[in-house]
Amino acid sequence: ASFDLLILNGLVVTASDIGHYDIAIKDEKIALLAPKGSLAETQAKKVIDAEGGYVMPGGVDAHVHLEEPPLFGKGRSSDTYETGTRSAICGGTTTVITFAPQSKNDPSLLSVLESTHQKAQNNCYTDYSFHILLSNPSPSVLNEFPTLRQKGISSLKIYMTYEALQLRDNEILDVLLTARQNSITTMIHAENGDILSWMTNKLEEKGLFEPKYHATSRPQLVETEATNRAITLSELIDTPMLIVHVSSPSAAEHIRNAQTRGLPLYAETCPQYLFLTRSHLSLPSFHGAKHICSPPPRTSADHPQIWLSLRNHTFTILSSDHCPFHYFDTENGKSSVRTPEYPLGRFKYIPNGIPGIETRLPLVLSAMEKDSKKLSLTKFVEVTSTNPAKLYGLYPRKGALLPGISDADLVIWYPPNTLEEWPIRNEDLHHNVDYTPYEGMMVCQWPRWTVLRGKVVWEREGEGLVGEKGWGRFVERGESTLGGRRGVGEWDVEAF
Ligand code: URP
Ligand code: ZN
Ligand code: ZN
Ligand code: ZN
Repeated sequence: ASFDLLILNGLVVTASDIGHYDIAIKDEKIALLAPKGSLAETQAKKVIDAEGGYVMPGGVDAHVHLEEPPLFGKGRSSDTYETGTRSAICGGTTTVITFAPQSKNDPSLLSVLESTHQKAQNNCYTDYSFHILLSNPSPSVLNEFPTLRQKGISSLKIYMTYEALQLRDNEILDVLLTARQNSITTMIHAENGDILSWMTNKLEEKGLFEPKYHATSRPQLVETEATNRAITLSELIDTPMLIVHVSSPSAAEHIRNAQTRGLPLYAETCPQYLFLTRSHLSLPSFHGAKHICSPPPRTSADHPQIWLSLRNHTFTILSSDHCPFHYFDTENGKSSVRTPEYPLGRFKYIPNGIPGIETRLPLVLSAMEKDSKKLSLTKFVEVTSTNPAKLYGLYPRKGALLPGISDADLVIWYPPNTLEEWPIRNEDLHHNVDYTPYEGMMVCQWPRWTVLRGKVVWEREGEGLVGEKGWGRFVERGESTLGGRRGVGEWDVEAF
């Protein structure tokens, strides 16, 4: 056979085009895109008839927490590299970028990177890379940046909140300057940690401990202030920055203004800010804890602005921020924070983060199918696959379908409007988490097949999960191919 796999009769969607093409795959790469019907007689080891379903580049989820220690002060990730990446392919994601987490007393990022490699190696169902999660930017740590680049790492995340991770502004400047000198993209968690701990203390003084007060302690202003400050620091140093998990229309407005001024500012949002609201945190008993993440879900009145910010290019990427903790878990304390004295727990001890690696693409595509004005198909591919690949130096190997160049990573959906909608149920998902915050929400699309480097790894109507742990490989990354610094000079006094 001249090809390994043919995918016939699909409606192929990339970030730029939609058309009826047949696809041929050979040696793990996209070999050909040809007009529909022209490959039908060609020799191949395997043929998939997509029957008019969408065929897209595999999802790239650039914000995933797996196998992390209790860095946020509370809670260890319940998903391992095995269970988290397994869940990913069942939801159409073929590449993940997780975090190699440095705690304050880790003296070397290179050793953190090495131990993260050991967790992932031979355990992944998806291809993968790591962002450095930087919590202690000591001079010797900053000196390691050139070596990180040589090892295929071109991004890092820093925090403006969480006691164990929060950096002061002067430390952020140290990181930004060194990141700029090494063409590393900085991701930043923008919430004002001092305000939200002050608010938390005030709420506790009044006896307000329940999960819903997590949202009260982190109003939009907490995010907006930090976002504006992050933009200022990025502008001062003249270095690209991505604001992660943006939830607030007011924060999006600051980002949009900065972009309009020509700053290399990028932003990410997540399904939780399109589908969840703070009222989910008030669910009876302790169920509100299943929706605690930071920033918190806002109100349904905010959702249209988040969709709009995806359409109008304010948000560059849409990631899951999959951050898995068990609901019934004594170690992580999601339920163990409930005591006779605090029957509904204390929100400040509930681990922040929700699972969503498997539901990211189906939730959004289903919402688009019900209301096509929400997002175009090409925009969907752009923000869930192509842009994360470009921003983090994986493009065009990932996020594209370029013959001879792109890996044969594909997600094949059902033809539009052919499935009866059904509720998301945690028992149908493949992560190692005992709940999904999206339980009962209706979807009408799901990946029919997922293909990673030419191999079918998920077939919804056949065996289900058919990928193998270890087929996923580490992918070395280069520089971002989205716009970089403006070049105003390292210490241009005129700029001050
Ligand atoms: O609540 C969240 N988002 N947990 C995950 C950690 C982070 O800040 O991304
Ligand atoms: Zn964060
Ligand atoms: Zn996160
Ligand atoms: Zn539908």
